[in-house]
Amino acid sequence: MRGVILAGGTGSRLHPLTRITNKHLLPIYDRPMINYAIESLVGAGVVEIMLVTGGTHAGEFLRLLGNGHEFGIERLFYAYQDKPGGIAEALGLAEKFVAGDRCVVLLGDNIFERSIRPCVDAFEKQARGARVVLSQESNREHLRNLGVAQFDSNRRIERIIEKSEKPPSDFAVTGVYFYDSTVWEVLPALKPSGRGELEITDVNNWFLENGLMEYDVLEGFWGDAGESIPAYYAVLDFVRAHGVNKPT
Ligand code: G1P
Repeated sequence: MRGVILAGGTGSRLHPLTRITNKHLLPIYDRPMINYAIESLVGAGVVEIMLVTGGTHAGEFLRLLGNGHEFGIERLFYAYQDKPGGIAEALGLAEKFVAGDRCVVLLGDNIFERSIRPCVDAFEKQARGARVVLSQESNREHLRNLGVAQFDSNRRIERIIEKSEKPPSDFAVTGVYFYDSTVWEVLPALKPSGRGELEITDVNNWFLENGLMEYDVLEGFWGDAGESIPAYYAVLDFVRAHGVNKPT
């Protein structure tokens, strides 16, 4: 399975911190944010990775990560997004890299207390389609900033609702997604959302509508450090106090 880390965007929710650097290069305790995403994939056995970034600080990633060997990556590729057009657009740049294989896509600002290896293993066994990873979150205000799963009576996800005033459940959709090669047919048909971006939630809803989506529920802490300044500090405090990417 190939890994794709998405580390572009303007990071506007972390302004003014992100005026001087890419969000994913901001420190989380003793390392730049992006290091945790790499550790998360490598720890799950994914060692062929493409990092997709953009903007004015893209060169810093090369300086930080080089060929990736120091971090346990066997082959590290880079792609450059000309302008921030959303997560789904950034993913499109990885098509030739993934080339018929399956992929795990990780948003570079997502931090996980526990290894995502069980999810990787589960997708290896899944016959086809896509897989999302949920995290239970009781704070309604927090859920309004995220994609949230809506379940049917059999506890199957019916739909993912993005940034709703009325989140349909307590289960946030985290920024780790698994796809088979069908995803490359879904991306070209997407239309920009209200915020002018190609949304990963629209990709995931296509798989849901076609009955091709499975899911896992995470244990332990999960944080999206790019969501807001308070979220950034909540993640930082957690990492400092407890550590993350712990083997299961
Ligand atoms: C994105 C997704 C959202 C998901 C979140 C997780 O939001 O659109 O569904 O819950 O990542 O980090 P964004 O960070 O682009 O606002």
